[in-house]
Amino acid sequence: MDSRKIIVTGCNGQLGRAIGREFEGDDRYELIGCDVTAEIKLDITDTDAVMKFVRDTAPEAIINCAAYTAVDKQETDRELSMKINAIGPRNLAIAASEAHAKLIHISTDYVFSGETSDHPRTEFDPVGPVSVYGRTKLAGEEFVKQFADRYFMIRTAWLYGDGHNFAKTMLELSKTHDELTVVDDQLGTPTSAKELARCIHALLPTDNYGLFHGTCEGDTNWAAFAERVLKLAGKDTRVVHVSTEEYMKKNPGSARRPAYSILDNYMLRLTDAYTFADWEAAIEEYFGDGLV
Ligand SMILES: NC(=O)c1ccc[n+]([C@@H]2O[C@H](COP(=O)([O-])OP(=O)(O)OC[C@H]3O[C@@H](n4cnc5c(N)ncnc54)[C@H](OP(=O)(O)O)[C@@H]3O)[C@@H](O)[C@H]2O)c1
Repeated sequence: MDSRKIIVTGCNGQLGRAIGREFEGDDRYELIGCDVTAEIKLDITDTDAVMKFVRDTAPEAIINCAAYTAVDKQETDRELSMKINAIGPRNLAIAASEAHAKLIHISTDYVFSGETSDHPRTEFDPVGPVSVYGRTKLAGEEFVKQFADRYFMIRTAWLYGDGHNFAKTMLELSKTHDELTVVDDQLGTPTSAKELARCIHALLPTDNYGLFHGTCEGDTNWAAFAERVLKLAGKDTRVVHVSTEEYMKKNPGSARRPAYSILDNYMLRLTDAYTFADWEAAIEEYFGDGLV
């Protein structure tokens, strides 16, 4: 079978790297990784560059792993946030349609307000972002729906992999602190980039298009997640539990985050597409892979 070209934008990020590893050895595909800092440079906010690159490459699919993910920084960097998280996916959606390519785009649990905690959120629940990041990612979703002919849009959460993430921050801080202060009233599900890459690998050859929630199974809070990470690393650093209110008083510039953002992988389940591992198994696998 001829290998089919897949453009991976943001290939140097956590998910981009996990995609590279996941598709290694699958000779149905030829991955073409690009990023603002990669050997093949592509800035997804540059409309002309995106159109030319996609036209010249004529890919079977584009996997968009590029994003502006520094949530707090974006509260005061709104235009760049909108450019990368909304205009970027818009450009890719237009280019993918013109090239008759599939588009895989990644969104976030932060499109929800998380104000009520009555049930895990499905793809059919109303959105209401409370941060700049959440709002610009939602605008990106809307552009994908508007301009992409065939797309898989996956909302994930609390992602960790080969790159900057909460687990690594906790381990880094534990080198210089005996105790760490972490909020315990925000609920969600840590999700490994490796599991998300496996889900993308499963969806890619199908015609099972649309919006999906894609997180590991189960749920926890940030303080309990920190405790699990420290325990797996054999650290005896103490985790001091605080409320979001207390944390925000000490860190007034921080972005608001949804208190409850547990996602239900409802569409993946309804379509028998992919079952994510439990978050506890996935974080153990992460340590086993030696990425920390
Ligand atoms: N991380 C999370 O906790 C989390 C949670 C929910 C959803 N998500 C979503 O999951 C996806 C993958 O996240 P991730 O954690 O893998 O992100 P990441 O590690 O921050 O990687 C994003 C990559 O995109 C690159 N990039 C930034 N601006 C770009 C531009 N204009 N053009 C091309 N590339 C650009 C970044 O380069 P620089 O590093 O040089 O800027 C980086 O290599 C994103 O859509 C994100 O919104 C992430």
